[in-house]
Amino acid sequence: MASVTLHKINKVFGHDHIIEDVDLDIGDGEFVVFVGPSGCGKSTLLRLTAGLESITDGKLCIGEQVVNDLPPRERGVGMVFQSYALYPHMTVYENMAFGLKLAKAANETIDERVMATARILQLEDLLHRKPKELSGGQRQRVAMGRAMAREPRILLFDEPLSNLDASLRVQMRNEIARLHQRLGSTVIYVTHDQVEAMTLADKIVVLRNGHVEQVGSPQELYQRPATKFVAGFIGSPTMNFMPADLLSGNSEGCQVRVPGLGVLALPQDVSHLTEGDRLSLGVRPEHLRLKEAHGDNAFDIVNVEYLGNEVYVYLEPKAGDTLLVHRTDAPSHWQVGQSVALVQDQDHVHLFDGNDNALTCHGQRQAA
Ligand SMILES: Nc1ncnc2c1ncn2[C@@H]1O[C@H](COP(=O)(O)OP(=O)(O)O)[C@@H](O)[C@H]1O
Ligand SMILES: [Mg+2]
Repeated sequence: MASVTLHKINKVFGHDHIIEDVDLDIGDGEFVVFVGPSGCGKSTLLRLTAGLESITDGKLCIGEQVVNDLPPRERGVGMVFQSYALYPHMTVYENMAFGLKLAKAANETIDERVMATARILQLEDLLHRKPKELSGGQRQRVAMGRAMAREPRILLFDEPLSNLDASLRVQMRNEIARLHQRLGSTVIYVTHDQVEAMTLADKIVVLRNGHVEQVGSPQELYQRPATKFVAGFIGSPTMNFMPADLLSGNSEGCQVRVPGLGVLALPQDVSHLTEGDRLSLGVRPEHLRLKEAHGDNAFDIVNVEYLGNEVYVYLEPKAGDTLLVHRTDAPSHWQVGQSVALVQDQDHVHLFDGNDNALTCHGQRQAA
């Protein structure tokens, strides 16, 4: 087990600057998730950590050691990929033993490690089977076992659950979480799925176009997104955004006008902004409240989705083409065609400036 530190890590492929000045501290035993849309650099950052790609600029440390020039096998990392590519002609046991054999471990050591790993992953009864005789979830466990048997200091996962169907994904997610609780190993886990990130991570790193957009616990990212991008990426259904004009304000609070909502007094610090600035108001679906209404400020309900335990109510927006969504417990009396007004409580809104940065309240720490 070990900590991992990235100092101003950069990666350039040809003319493309793919990873830009990434700084990151990963604690010993921490479960860190890199999340972001496809192509944002998650796999590249993981491969730089593993040593499968060379670092263009910056310093990477595992524990106290600078590892920029160490080959992958000397970094003490175990990696599990999306396509777990087990050796088809080898048994589960042989697949798990293979890395140790290559590393020329003694036969007794190999046997001890493989058996211990099999016990943890509940693969003991499957050791004699070939990969084609296993279910998807079992194969995924063998791929994890293959990485773990070498007792790496850090476990790296690149979208390990993407090939599994939805219910198996939930089950494996639970197994990975419990495995981490038992082993206490340092884990870096890559996914484009914000639900996986929220449920697994001690710390989430949101990546966007090769840079770190925000780092924080799942709670911090949900409750205090630092940018509109993070606000929209974390949470499902996604946060509602509405245009807002700044009417007045200072460091203690402000007044904004929002079409369909009227004038709101909010606690955000706008001392660095100018009256008339175009802002964006963000409201989570569970905080968008409705009441029956008619007239100019009314919104039309255009769709109602019933999910069993809850209901999503979609409203025609006053500006833009993205529907607003209200989330409520089922049953709900809202119906398509009804006319409603929004009731907004001021404690549960987010405000973003023209550069999409979150405005914070007086005295509140600006999230990184
Ligand atoms: N070996 C490579 N050569 C050139 N470009 C690459 C290479 N690997 C990745 N890229 C580019 O780097 C960007 C990030 O890729 P990747 O890290 O795989 O994203 P993610 O895993 O977040 O989907 C993409 O634009 C991709 O095309
Ligand atoms: Mg990837």
